Amino acid sequence: MRVLRTLVEARAWRRAAGATVGFVPTMGYLHEGHLELVRRARAENDAVIVSIFVNPTQFGPKDDFSRYPRDEARDLALLEVEGVAAVFMPTVEEMYPEGFATAVDVSGGLTSVLEGAARPGHFRGMATVVAKLLSIAGAERAYFGRKDAQQLAVVRRMASDLNLAVEIVPCDTVREPDGLAMSSRNTYLTSEERRAAPALYAGLRQALALFEGGERDPAVLREAVRARVVVEPAFALEYVSVADPETLAELDWVKGAALVSVAARLGRTRLIDNVTLGERG
Ligand code: PAF
Repeated sequence: MRVLRTLVEARAWRRAAGATVGFVPTMGYLHEGHLELVRRARAENDAVIVSIFVNPTQFGPKDDFSRYPRDEARDLALLEVEGVAAVFMPTVEEMYPEGFATAVDVSGGLTSVLEGAARPGHFRGMATVVAKLLSIAGAERAYFGRKDAQQLAVVRRMASDLNLAVEIVPCDTVREPDGLAMSSRNTYLTSEERRAAPALYAGLRQALALFEGGERDPAVLREAVRARVVVEPAFALEYVSVADPETLAELDWVKGAALVSVAARLGRTRLIDNVTLGERG
């Protein structure tokens, strides 16, 4: 497995790689969710490149950039076992050299609601670094988890709007046995918070069960999620949304598919999760 630290090394690797390359962008501190993306990429491409880069521009001043967990040696060992061909691990200076002045802004409702409202500037930083990483990796396919449903919607919009020659492949959320969605941020949870955390997905499942029983009123679905989450008093609920999965516009009635998403704070940790009602895109 090659470890590539510079753009020059990454581009040279791509030129010499097999016919099709699958790309998995990450911020490291890998868990089973990332490894599932890698396995899917391996199954569908001749070679896989993973990036590990904690991107400072997608963190706000109150976000957790400096305390974001990092473990380079462990990540590299996990990727080696998965048969990854190359890992791109640039420095901040390599990605944002002096004079860097460009940003990718996916405008409108897609980035101003939900996570965009809670974390101003987050999607601008994310879209910019993903555009750069996609250009550097030169992959045929790039793999993103459905756990960050809004990120996936923004990346799909950007790839389509900019005519990027890459297929964006959505992959299912990987969960702990008790339902908690895997996330590098779960490591922040105290043992008491970890015990309470599955209430988030339990709430989403209540909405799913109501939908399967014929309920189509978003207010009823939202309330079902809220009521289950607040059973755990440690949770401070930020939002429950029932929205169009592509535009993220809130629905006043569920006619086709709907994305039910939730964000809540558990102590110092902010958790997000979602389920799709109906056919997924
Ligand atoms: O989902 C993440 O880990 C990050 O947002 C990504 C896509 C690697 C961009 O920094």
